Amino acid sequence: MKKIDSFSEYNRAYEHSVNDPEGFWEDVASTFSWQSKWDKVLDWEFDTPNVNWFVNGKLNITENCLDRHLADKGDKIAIIWEPNDPNEDAISITYNELHQRVCEFANVLLNNGAKKGDRICLYMPMVPELAIATLACARIGAIHSVVFAGFSAKALADRINDADCNILLTSDGLFRGTKQLCLKDIADEALQHCNTINACIVLQRTGQDVNMTNGRDLWWHDELQKVNHHCDAQIMDSEDPLFVLYTSGSTGKPKGVQHHCGGYMVYAEYSFRNVFQYEEDDVYWCTADIGWITGHSYIIYGPLLSGATTIMFEGVPTYPDAGRFWEICEKHRVNIFYTAPTAIRALQAYGTEVIEKYDLSSLKTLGSVGEPINEEAWDWYYKNIGKEKCWIVDTWWQTETGGIMISPLAHITKMKPTFATLPLPGIQPCLVDTDGNEIQGNDVEGNLCVKFPWPSMIRTTYGDHERCKQVYFSTYPGKYFTGDGCKRDQDGFYRITGRVDDVINVSGHRMGTAEVENGINEHVSVVESAVVGYPHDIKGQGIYAYVILDSSVDGSEDLKKEILHTVTTEIGPIAKPDKIQFVSGLPKTRSGKIMRRILRKVAEGDTSNLGDTSTLLDPNVVQEIINGAQ
Ligand code: WTA
Repeated sequence: MKKIDSFSEYNRAYEHSVNDPEGFWEDVASTFSWQSKWDKVLDWEFDTPNVNWFVNGKLNITENCLDRHLADKGDKIAIIWEPNDPNEDAISITYNELHQRVCEFANVLLNNGAKKGDRICLYMPMVPELAIATLACARIGAIHSVVFAGFSAKALADRINDADCNILLTSDGLFRGTKQLCLKDIADEALQHCNTINACIVLQRTGQDVNMTNGRDLWWHDELQKVNHHCDAQIMDSEDPLFVLYTSGSTGKPKGVQHHCGGYMVYAEYSFRNVFQYEEDDVYWCTADIGWITGHSYIIYGPLLSGATTIMFEGVPTYPDAGRFWEICEKHRVNIFYTAPTAIRALQAYGTEVIEKYDLSSLKTLGSVGEPINEEAWDWYYKNIGKEKCWIVDTWWQTETGGIMISPLAHITKMKPTFATLPLPGIQPCLVDTDGNEIQGNDVEGNLCVKFPWPSMIRTTYGDHERCKQVYFSTYPGKYFTGDGCKRDQDGFYRITGRVDDVINVSGHRMGTAEVENGINEHVSVVESAVVGYPHDIKGQGIYAYVILDSSVDGSEDLKKEILHTVTTEIGPIAKPDKIQFVSGLPKTRSGKIMRRILRKVAEGDTSNLGDTSTLLDPNVVQEIINGAQ
């Protein structure tokens, strides 16, 4: 695939993509290997919604990630794995080896009864086997559902049950910084509440003792003994599902965002090559976890489709010290580095001495993803990591968009601190006002929508198409609504201002306030709660919880700890509130709606102008909340 190599070429490509979307994407799609070509490039409507790309095209994404590279790149390194412990050896896997290991594990899945269309859940550490197993699912046409290994047993069980998964892939334990976690124990607890899992295949990572249930649990290494390494790729329709990935919305229940084979493949490689301006021998590193969309699209699929060398890191940025990222950049001569603002802000706090120890001269392009990057962090990243010569690509996108939507193209289009800048070719963003009218012109602000389909867009929410329609396509009929607020400046550059719905973004992780409230409310002493986000120096947003207790109990520090424990059990440690305030009531309107605007202001410490509180059922509770605020 040829990439855009100049600003004028970007403009030309953009215009082509708007004036003739089918012609534009036909050209891009033609660079992949298809088992049979499509009849029609695009068929769509946004009411139901019903979007079909490369209609009747047949392919397997793993043939494009692996097989097609073997002739000329078989010995090239596909994956470099960097372990949590720097004293453990890194592992390099060539395209030949990766192909073989994917085929072997695909055969393990087949041996255990997996079929095309089955859902397979992966709950694993950041080890090469996670990437291998993900691709093995795609090889046989099973739908992978990767669940981040920081989620609790309850959250895992909910996700397994929602998608009726029949196989669970996990490990004995995982290493993360100084911690060792027993994943298998968590999986066992989850499986007590699941009755669709026939096989649980367990990878040995930590070597710790685990329970193995007869008839259900199998060792990964034993299963590999039983297979050979030939596995034909399942022929998939372009619109067959490739994966589901659960993400939070404004209701309590996470939804399984579903992506389909053909369109996702085309856009993953297109966006990867163009945004990062990937060149043949570049070493590329995205620090995300494969449990999130960034890991799916830009650790596994985008780079492997491009035949790139992609680094997978098992650990955390601060272990054994805050120089770890930079040590790895030096060690593997990383050219393209992609991380989250929360990591940048966390490392910023450690000063620059830990950076100066390392040679970062290989870096060309730096990326940012997951949340708005504040100007200070942007400047710090540009100066101290990029040494004022690297491009920073601030990439805006979502689990639902499958790939990067708005971003500079490194070294090609302009960058501007805190701005995601311009849409990629093929992407037609627009801003709408609260009445749903499109806001024209520049120097404007509104809600961010997309008015034309793109190949990697969400197709449905697993098992509940109506929900997909309601959440994304009903607020502004005829448009996909992102849930984000956005400005467009005088140059036409986009700047994402944050969520406009009840979703908060904590360290780049999306969390529904309702989801956290449901977690808190599981504590026996809690009657009701309301959760809002507030600005947090490192996490971007912190979680502030207002909690009403049963009248028979007193609020204490111990009780706060218990509530945090409940949330950890219900969702996972990432959802733990940073602050808990016990209150006797919540500011509700006469119709019972909580006025979150007031709670947000109090959490932000800005009580000077709370706006109109006259519609509240009991305006007195506001003063009590202000007095008790932290
Ligand atoms: C936010 C992550 C500002 C946004 C890929 C979006 C961003 C949500 C940026 C999606 C960015 C992501 N600038 N905000 N560059 N990137 N966001 O689904 O609010 O985990 O709606 O996907 O993160 O989060 P998700």
